[in-house]
Amino acid sequence: MADVQKIIGDAVKVHGTERKALMPILQAIVQEKNYLSDEDMISVANVLDLSSAEVFGTASFYTFLDTEERGEYVVRVCKTISCHMAGKDEVINALEKNLKIKAGETTVDKKFTLLTANCLGWCHKGPVMLVNDEVYPELTPQKAVEIIQEHKNR
Ligand code: FES
Repeated sequence: MADVQKIIGDAVKVHGTERKALMPILQAIVQEKNYLSDEDMISVANVLDLSSAEVFGTASFYTFLDTEERGEYVVRVCKTISCHMAGKDEVINALEKNLKIKAGETTVDKKFTLLTANCLGWCHKGPVMLVNDEVYPELTPQKAVEIIQEHKNR
């Protein structure tokens, strides 16, 4: 289990306790434990002397700062227009079938969460997905499943 107080403490050493440290600190927590709990956000609010509403607002605005528990691997398939035209539906269908979950869900073993995301900035190479922070462009359904398979075996 990640020690959130330590993560916050380490992040504060680097980023300080001003308002602008909020995003990097939230990101540091998400990087370590894959999501932000209410308690985490309250701890950050206390350290930065902000209201918890402000911290929660920031976290929910940035969809990359998950506020729900996620799997070890968070798979985000771009759903925006270029990737849509390039066949993201087929990719999502193949992943749903392989993982036996629907987009938005987490596998029972908590290994994978499948999400859709807005444009990831790789439009010329769609369809694109991220697995945590690794980018996988030019997907086919088969290629996407192979990538998941590789992660299952890690
Ligand atoms: Fe998919 Fe931009 S539309 S990465």
